[in-house]
Amino acid sequence: MAETGLGKKDIVVDAGTGAGALACALANVCKHVYSYEIKEEHLKVAKENIKRLRLNNITLKKKDVNKGITEKEVNLIVLDLPEPWKTVKSAQKALKIGGFLIAYTPTIIQASQFVEEIRKNKSFLFDKTIELIQRKWIVDGRRLRPSSAEIGHTAFLTFVRRIK
Ligand SMILES: C[S@@+](CC[C@H](N)C(=O)[O-])C[C@H]1O[C@@H](n2cnc3c(N)ncnc32)[C@H](O)[C@@H]1O
Repeated sequence: MAETGLGKKDIVVDAGTGAGALACALANVCKHVYSYEIKEEHLKVAKENIKRLRLNNITLKKKDVNKGITEKEVNLIVLDLPEPWKTVKSAQKALKIGGFLIAYTPTIIQASQFVEEIRKNKSFLFDKTIELIQRKWIVDGRRLRPSSAEIGHTAFLTFVRRIK
């Protein structure tokens, strides 16, 4: 959200929905989220979570995102699925020029394969791949030091923009 400057006029496509956690976080900030998911049981869980959070700006879609994105002039597409390189062509048709395509991948092999596909497509410009890790500190009297138990890995975030 910070990197893309996502705001309340923006339309977002999210795939796959999973439990809907990312879709809900995005919906708190943007105008509308269209979230694609292939598994009915995951959509059920996401629907419950959206209801609990009383969000009315998320549309859940039971559809393979690689087979086409219906929405056009989308500001941001976020992919959290195993093979994001397969979504590049659908994303190209749906994103507005200047829009962001972001892939969240647990391994750097997935990030690399995604970037290779992006580099074959002249409509996209690869920006960066980053890894975010927060280090929690103990702040308790004279015990002022990093916590012993640390998160060793989160995931890689790859940022791409549609340029034409
Ligand atoms: C890691 S989960 C996503 C978690 C989600 N971001 C969240 O916050 O809960 C990946 C999801 O992608 C779905 N998926 C995989 N391939 C897909 C595709 N081609 N189109 C739509 N959904 C897909 C899977 O069924 C799974 O629910």
